[in-house]
This record gives sequence, structure tokens and C-alpha cells, in this order.
Amino acid sequence: MKNLILVFFVLFTMAASAQKFANLALTPPMGWNSWNKFQCNVSENLIKGAADQLVSTGMRDAGYEYVVIDDCWQIGRDSMGFIVADPVRFPSGIKALADYIHSKGLKFGIYSCAGTKTCAGRPGGRGHEFQDAYMYAKWGVDYLKYDWCSSDGQNQKESYKLMSTKLKEAGRPIVFSLCEWGGSKPWEWAREVGHLWRTTGDIANCFDCEQKHTGYSNWGAMKILDMHKDTRQYAGPGRWNDPDMLQVGNGMKVNEDRAHFSMWCMLAAPLMAGNDLKNMSLQTQEILTNPDAIDINQDALGIQGLKYKSEEGLETWVKPLANGDWAICFLNRTPITKTIEFDWLKNVVNDDFAKRRLDASVETFRIKDVWSKKELGNTKKALKAEVPSNDVQMFRLSLVK
Ligand code: GLA
Repeated sequence: MKNLILVFFVLFTMAASAQKFANLALTPPMGWNSWNKFQCNVSENLIKGAADQLVSTGMRDAGYEYVVIDDCWQIGRDSMGFIVADPVRFPSGIKALADYIHSKGLKFGIYSCAGTKTCAGRPGGRGHEFQDAYMYAKWGVDYLKYDWCSSDGQNQKESYKLMSTKLKEAGRPIVFSLCEWGGSKPWEWAREVGHLWRTTGDIANCFDCEQKHTGYSNWGAMKILDMHKDTRQYAGPGRWNDPDMLQVGNGMKVNEDRAHFSMWCMLAAPLMAGNDLKNMSLQTQEILTNPDAIDINQDALGIQGLKYKSEEGLETWVKPLANGDWAICFLNRTPITKTIEFDWLKNVVNDDFAKRRLDASVETFRIKDVWSKKELGNTKKALKAEVPSNDVQMFRLSLVK
């Protein structure tokens, strides 16, 4: 009898612990990450400043929750193999930094790598998985981005599974973000391992370019969007395709930033801002905090958007939302303004994956323009709009009940 009680106790504890991890990212994680703008130039002051600015700019209240230090915070290992943070750049230590971020009502994320070295050549996690997971748990880490450099001879599935297990053993609920750039198609196997997985190489700070390097490329936002056509069925609450962090505010034109952000919202992508929050323009701030765009991204159903059609560089994307609503986004990838006249009755959308049908002859929807914030009537009348070059028109369709 005693043994039976023990078995039940162990099974219950294991189930409770699995649940603790499973419910961590029921909508796409949102936050800020240091890499896109600051690369290795990270410090305690920069990260504390980012936390302060998330609060003062309204970004925290708009949903941005995780403050993530990317590569270069770590400098070595001590004689027992524990990871050591750079004492010059982080003089108060990582625990104090985590405490500071938590005191602002935010969560704290950190970066490491499944290989022996990170992509910037700092110590990686290989061979130290439990030691690192234990340290992260003790420091109060809430989010781990785990990269794939210096991983010769390693297998993605095994390496990420190992770290996932060690994080669970360490006991603190930590969002696990896989970053192996899509090489092993993690969308096919990682839903039990982590909460999000990068699908492509790194995002470049451009709308539609390819930046070639020896052996790899960095990709503009539109190139990354195109790489997402076969990943739709793998996303959902707790398991997200990650098209990489946002480049909004890092130098693209405002219309390009708006289109990039809108498409990340349509994809149900994690929204990790990657800009200099201290010197952010009002336009950038307005893009990053648009409540209707964020609502579309954070919709409880967690369905990744679908490209409904593409005609001469004008793409129409749709995303089924909770309570019978939809989002629709017209993306103009050409150098000239496009005029749309979208007759809802002639455009019945059948979404077989989501088992949803957008049919304006059966249901009527109110139309709200996400970017102008205007109410535009309903779907009984064709929608007319102009979409400037490299820009979007994005609408929320609310079901009239
Ligand atoms: C890789 C990742 C990036 C970033 C850098 C850090 O390139 O894909 O997102 O973390 O490493 O070195």
C-alpha cells in the first residue's frame, strides 16, 4: 500500500511539473532581446535600462514581458565548471539583474548554446547542461534561448531534449526557445521539447534582402516570411514557429517596419523587440504597441495566418481568431501603390486546417482598420483601400452576432 501511495505521489509530482512547463507560452512570447541592436555590447546598465524603458514607453503594459540578454554576458567557467558572468559588464551579478527586472513586473531571459561555444565564442552549454539549468533556476531566469554554434557531431533533437530535461529537473518554469535555425525542421519534433523554435537563419535589418556570408545568409523580413509557408500546422498554444526577433526601429522605413510587424502578428510569431528603446521614435513606439495588431498576434486560438492569395506582388493573408473573428492583411510587395477592391461575397475563404470558413453571405463582420484605428462599416459592402509600396492594410473583422 505504501509503495502504491509513493508511486501515485511520484506520478502526480511529475504531471504537475510537466504542466508547469506546458502552460508557459500559451500565446506567442513577447519581450525585448539585446542582439539585433547591441550584439556583444551588453552590460548590466543596458539591460536594466531596457527594463526601465519597457515600463516608461508603455511596452510592458502592451504585453512585452521578457527582457532577454543575448550572447556575450558569459566569460568563462569556474574551477567546478559553473558558468561565470563577465564581472566588468555585470558587476552586480546576474541574480541581482534578474531581481531588478522582476521588481519592474517583467521576466528575465538569458542566452546560451547547445554547442561547446556560443556563436560569439563564449562558453556554450555542452557537457554542463544540468549545472547551467540549476544556475539559471537559482538566478531566477524565466526564459532561455539556446543556440546551435560549435555543435559539430551533435544531433539537434538529442541536444535540445537533453537541455529541456535538465531545465525541468532544475524545477523553475523556464520558457525554452530553440535556436537551431530550422536545420532539423524542429517544428516536426520540438513541441514536447520547447515552446518556440527558430525556423530560419538570422533576420537582417532590411525588408527583402539576402545578406550573404561564407556558408550562410541573413534574411530580410519578406524572405523569412516566404520560408513559412509549410509550417502552419505546427504552431499553436505552447508551440510557436519563431521567424526571429523584430528589426522594427532599427533603420527600415516606417512603412516597411509596419509591414514587418503586421506580418509577424499574422504569423502568430513571438514578438521580441530588438531596437534601442532609449532612442526610439514615436513612430516605432506606435508600431510596437499597436493594441489591435498585438491582439491579433496574441489571440487565444494561436492559429498561424494563411496566405489566401497572391496577385502580382499583392498578398492577402487571413488569420482565424477566437469568437468567430478574423484578421485580414493586404501586403504590397511591389514598388507601386496598389488599389484593392475586395468583394467579400466573391472571396469565400476556406481554412481547412483551422476548420473555419469566412463567408460574408452567411455571416457579417464589422471592419476595423488596425493602423488608422477607424471603423469601416461591415462586410456587406466591398472594401476599398490603397496599399502603398512595401506596406500593409490590416483589418480586424468582428463577427456581428
Ligand atoms: C546566432 C543567433 C542569433 C544571436 C547570435 C548571438 O546567430 O541565431 O539570434 O543569438 O547567434 O551570437
